Amino acid sequence: MDKFIIEGGRPLYGEVEIQAAKNAVLPLLAASILTDERVIIHRCPRIRDVLNMIQILNELGCRTSFERETLVIDSADAANHEIPSALAKELRSSIFMLGSVIARFGKARIAYPGGCDIGLRPVDLHLKGLKSLHVRIEEEGGYINCACDRLNGADILLDCPSVGATENIILASVKGEGTTVVRNAAKEPEICDLQNFLNKMGAKISGGGTSTIRIEGVKRLHGVEYTPMPDRIEAGTFLIAAAMCGGELEIKGVFADNIAALLHKLREISCKITVKNDKIYIKGGGVRKSLRMIETMPYPGFPTDLQAPITALACICEGATVIVENLFETRFKHVPELIRMGADITVRGRAAFVRGVPVLHGADLVAGDLRGGAALTLAAVSAEGKSTVTDLSHIDRGYSGFEYKLAGVGAKIRRIRV
Ligand code: EPZ
Repeated sequence: MDKFIIEGGRPLYGEVEIQAAKNAVLPLLAASILTDERVIIHRCPRIRDVLNMIQILNELGCRTSFERETLVIDSADAANHEIPSALAKELRSSIFMLGSVIARFGKARIAYPGGCDIGLRPVDLHLKGLKSLHVRIEEEGGYINCACDRLNGADILLDCPSVGATENIILASVKGEGTTVVRNAAKEPEICDLQNFLNKMGAKISGGGTSTIRIEGVKRLHGVEYTPMPDRIEAGTFLIAAAMCGGELEIKGVFADNIAALLHKLREISCKITVKNDKIYIKGGGVRKSLRMIETMPYPGFPTDLQAPITALACICEGATVIVENLFETRFKHVPELIRMGADITVRGRAAFVRGVPVLHGADLVAGDLRGGAALTLAAVSAEGKSTVTDLSHIDRGYSGFEYKLAGVGAKIRRIRV
């Protein structure tokens, strides 16, 4: 097991290059089996979720090669429609393999997916959407068995704007008969990236980024070479790091519009932020006015994936902050660890009430999930004194070279194997 050793309390200065977005790359990997021609993905982050997804593709019979940051997928010989349960449990996003595996083979078998322990993570909207496309679904013994003679277009209204369900329906219907309309669709930028990727392969999809997406089924999709969008959550994590530690960071290769909700809050607490093309400059430190209220919402509201990092920031802002987590049931696992660093937080249900303290002090911390682990690392880098962070497997799911990027801008952090 690895752990971080951190000496906190130093300001951060320098540049951070943002990786391609984990939550864009994963659906693109699922989409890659919709053609038997070669798919090339550039700037692919070498993170555990991507490596697990590549393993799933290999189990389906794809040939993959991953040199530096270029991933090549050749699914001409793919023939297996069963997603191995160990991998499906490891990876939440395995669920949107369903749509593309059914579209490719006319059937699919998958164990109920795993992922971060941040809530119930139901898949009812995925299954309802697939049933609307005439997929027959049986759930037995923890497995989901799907079969379909022909995927017919449908008009689908989602009960809530689920990112994964929206992506699954797009993947299942892109080569279906007729037209599919998804209403109350998720509007996250990663959906637009999937639409762009598939349209480059010959699909006919429109409306990505709005709540109504139209997919006109096409007969074939051809190979593609693609560079996914930057990771807005990684970018937000480093912006919050600057706000917590002080100093000046240049965040390179990010679309500021994709994290407008965060930039708005950081400016409110008096961070100096300027945007120039695909770079964001932030000057943090000094006074941190109260954040007052953070409510996580579907895009373009405040992203749930930045809730844990901004909760860490709230701990050292002036006054009180109320943080409401509207999307997931148990996404406050980082709170008890922050309290051990001297934070003053009370959680009631989906709300955390934070009273700011001047500074946190170092402690031995345990990461409980991906974004909570990142939040604890930021808290330790900003705190006075020495900290350790264990169970880094969560962080390694979504951040490529997290400690190197922090050390590269002045944090005293290193990883040791224990
Ligand atoms: C995606 O998860 C992201 N993961 C999550 O990022 C992100 O937090 C989430 O979208 C919200 O933005 C990937 O893209 C791989 P949802 P997903 O379906 O698709 C309810 C990270 O840290 N729901 O939009 O699983 C669900 O309970 C991860 O990078 C149903 O009720 O999220 C939740 O309350 C964590 N039924 C809400 O929708 C369903 O069938 C949003 O979930 C599906 C979802």
